Amino acid sequence: MGGVMCGIVGYVGKRSASPILFQGLTNLEYRGYDSAGIALGGESEIRFYKYKGTVKNLENVVSGRDLHGTIGIGHTRWATHGEPSDLNAHPHLSQDGTIALVHNGIIENARTISSMLEEEGYVFISETDTEVLAHLIEFVGKKADLSFSEAVREALVQVEGTFAVAVISSRNPDTMVVARRGSPLVVGIRDSGSEFFVASDALAFAEHTRFVAYLKENEIAVLRSGDDFRVSAIKGGKKRHPEIIEIEEDLAVIGKEGFDHFMEKEIFEQPRTVRDSMRGRLDPKTGSVRLGGLDDYMGRLAEADRIVFVACGTSYYAAVLGEYLIERYAGIPVEVEYASEFRYRHPLIRKSDFVIAVSQSGETADTLAAIRLAKESGATVLGICNVVGSSIARATDAGVYTHAGPEIGVASTKAFTAQVTVLALLALALAEKRHTLSCKERKRLARELYLVPDKIETTLETRMECESIAEQYAEAENAFYLGRGVCYPVAMEGALKLKEISYVHAEGYPAGEMKHGPIALVEDGVPVVVLAPNAAETHEKVISNIREMKARRGSIVAIVTEGDAETASLANHTVSIPEADEFVLALIAVIPLQLIAYYSATIRGCDVDRPRNLAKSVTVE
Ligand code: M6R
Repeated sequence: MGGVMCGIVGYVGKRSASPILFQGLTNLEYRGYDSAGIALGGESEIRFYKYKGTVKNLENVVSGRDLHGTIGIGHTRWATHGEPSDLNAHPHLSQDGTIALVHNGIIENARTISSMLEEEGYVFISETDTEVLAHLIEFVGKKADLSFSEAVREALVQVEGTFAVAVISSRNPDTMVVARRGSPLVVGIRDSGSEFFVASDALAFAEHTRFVAYLKENEIAVLRSGDDFRVSAIKGGKKRHPEIIEIEEDLAVIGKEGFDHFMEKEIFEQPRTVRDSMRGRLDPKTGSVRLGGLDDYMGRLAEADRIVFVACGTSYYAAVLGEYLIERYAGIPVEVEYASEFRYRHPLIRKSDFVIAVSQSGETADTLAAIRLAKESGATVLGICNVVGSSIARATDAGVYTHAGPEIGVASTKAFTAQVTVLALLALALAEKRHTLSCKERKRLARELYLVPDKIETTLETRMECESIAEQYAEAENAFYLGRGVCYPVAMEGALKLKEISYVHAEGYPAGEMKHGPIALVEDGVPVVVLAPNAAETHEKVISNIREMKARRGSIVAIVTEGDAETASLANHTVSIPEADEFVLALIAVIPLQLIAYYSATIRGCDVDRPRNLAKSVTVE
């Protein structure tokens, strides 16, 4: 099968395509990085280069080779089925070598089509579903004597599954055909169409243009330098005039900005990103909140019988915090579901329900599927997303952007705090509408939220302590993260961070649950990170839990409130965080856990921004 979480790029214009493709692929490597390739056209023959390994490897291998051509496509892959290998890498060529394509998605009826094509004499040299599509385009084109673009269209009508594709042909050396169904695809336009850029994410070509058009589901477009940009439905061919928008975020300035890793940069950006998430939405003087994207829905949302959050991974933990905040402060019943479970467990969804999808990328397949199910059941579906124009942003009835800016590190950090900030804003906005808090209390909480960026700034100063803790436990293979109340989702998030980038087995648990089983695993020296700030309602209980762990000789790392010498005295190591109300505590308490995970990974020599077996956007269910 072909990769399904990959990045695709394309260029049609007047410049040499290869440097643009390499840069685009490098910008997209967060989507996958086990193999990479490009194909260049523009004359009678397509030249292609594809190898197992990174984009850098590809660039090194092809340097000095014939790379000219003003039209080209490229791909960076994250394999799901079939080993990463030169043969499985994209682009894939048709049997006669006249057609090359890159693909992101899964062709579900690949086996049926390949059997049919084999009977027609086609031979497959890779294990990918994508090669099936390349052969099918050639086959249908020859059989019905179709033009290049019509052959692509006809082939796509026949395939089932998901795809974003970019296709070139040596018979039409100035033309690229692109299409999508279920996988993202965006076209960049420069100089009124003398140049076109294609990618899974506008970040790929941010340095060249900020004018983009998103292809809608089941659309195909023909790109030719200096010609009209034409979009039509794959089936039926109904034409649509593409809407060209200017991207607001300054994607062009992306870079590590002096940090060693994107993750590190993103952790340290959080005072700014949390501020950006609140900007123009929170009035700390009046305690009022306005979430423009929800204007038409707030009245009904405030009256909802139930809110159901659907999300995955880190976004799920943010949603659990949303549950705690909305139930406590706005008094609306909330449930939180893993999107991957929600869609298959036949949930009871009522028309009166509000389902809110939380997602950084806006492309997570499980979350998208949960949205579809909720919509089919008649619920109102809202989104909390970071990526503007993403599939989830477009699939929901309305929503709120988190405004954290592009998050490149696979381990989510600033997107999490942005999500929690938006959820806190939502809780306040709902409390305002429902009059569940006194005006004074609402103003106090709004002020607490407003002060969070400064408190994060202060908390980031604990970096040395966090690094030293990471050093002392560098050899540990297991760890526990414990918390209660709002600190419980933070504990789960802290454990996930450690697991995913440093490959240390970590369990996030409600502190009170330890004695119901997991405490059996605590023995001499096992690190137990306990979130024990004194604002938490359950502070005293957490102290008892620390004593229980100590009695089993666990090594306690306590996250405590500045000045809390008593709790600190129980721990082997402490990190002090500023005093904060429970309403915003998670936003501050998570910072040392992000830092500990980051330093653990670097000390253990792990590839922080590109952890093994993971990819930034999980577009496979
Ligand atoms: O883009 P999403 O927020 O929908 O992604 C969901 C998860 O895959 C994601 O949060 C994942 O758990 C994080 N990258 C972990 O740091």
